[in-house]
Amino acid sequence: MAATTAILFLVLLASLSATSSSPYFSATTLFQNYQNMLTSFRIFIYTPTKPFNFPNPPASLFYSSLLRSPFVTQNPAEAHLFLVPFSPDTSTRSLARVIRELRNNHPYWNRTLGADHFFVSPAGIDYSSDRNVLELKKNSVQISVFPVVSGYFVPHKDVTLPPFSTSPLALLDGLEVNSTKTTSFLGYLNWDGMTEPNLVNELKGDVDFLVEEKSEPLNYMRSVTESKFCLFLYHGEVTWMVEAMALGCVPVVIVDRPIQDLPLMDILRWSEIALLVAVPRSGAKRLKEVLNGLSEEKYAEMRELCVAASKHLVWNEEPQPLDAFHMVMYQLWLRRHAVRYARREFG
Ligand SMILES: *[C@@H]1O[C@H](CO)[C@@H](O)[C@H](O)[C@H]1NC(C)=O
Ligand SMILES: *[C@@H]1O[C@H](CO)[C@@H](O)[C@H](O)[C@H]1NC(C)=O
Repeated sequence: MAATTAILFLVLLASLSATSSSPYFSATTLFQNYQNMLTSFRIFIYTPTKPFNFPNPPASLFYSSLLRSPFVTQNPAEAHLFLVPFSPDTSTRSLARVIRELRNNHPYWNRTLGADHFFVSPAGIDYSSDRNVLELKKNSVQISVFPVVSGYFVPHKDVTLPPFSTSPLALLDGLEVNSTKTTSFLGYLNWDGMTEPNLVNELKGDVDFLVEEKSEPLNYMRSVTESKFCLFLYHGEVTWMVEAMALGCVPVVIVDRPIQDLPLMDILRWSEIALLVAVPRSGAKRLKEVLNGLSEEKYAEMRELCVAASKHLVWNEEPQPLDAFHMVMYQLWLRRHAVRYARREFG
């Protein structure tokens, strides 16, 4: 397993050697640290109060992959992190009870007040007046689905899962990404039919943009290859983002405020991979200026980096080295250092 990963990593690094830039903050640290994670990382999972499933695909795939992984230990003494499993429809009151029971029945919560604990909540959890839920919210690592509603995500602590695509990603293997891309459209949007209708109407009226509504994978992949940039409305449909990146369509995320919940935020240099553009309510003209303002060299570099980065955002039914599952695990591994108190004094 480790050898396969090493080879895969060398291939990834070699494919970047043409340019001096890389999609990672630090490729060497990542590589060494990742190997350590594979051999050392141990997670203890509390028994859920009742059996449950996540209806949301990346959450369910992450959870089931973790349960089946060699990271799980039955011995809490050797665990770096503790997973608190609960159903996504758990009420705040029930969640408070879950945490209270952990606190009273196990010694681990009190050592860090939950800082070496994590939980999966597709939508994220809100602040609460209940002490138990508040500690979970403030101290434990939350894993939710990108993008997260404002206020439901704590930057630098919480983690998002890369979007999950239902399309046959295997198709991508057959599609060669052309190094010199001749495109018919400046930007392509696969619209969910709801988000930002004013902006979308403007884009529809501009021949430089291709807008399709809820296009299916086989169709949108063709549109993606014909476009220079792929447009994503933050809080709109993002499931096709990873395929777009794999096909060399540079993502443009249209945001209404600074965002900090992009997947693999501590690993990937998103600022070199994607454009985050704040566009006023009627802003097709402004958007066009930004996109046309990017030099050909810069565009070529971003395109190369987004293809390289896409490999880490892919979900597999059987987790593969360096895929979305393992990179999310790696982000947890980076968050394992919590100060533990042998005994906590009160009063
Ligand atoms: C953890 O601390 C609380 C006080 O906040 C205490 O009531 C509880 O018994 C402690 N848990 C354990 C397992 O000692
Ligand atoms: C790549 O370029 C060649 C020649 O220009 C073309 O025939 C082929 O269809 C292109 N492939 C893709 C995926 O765009």
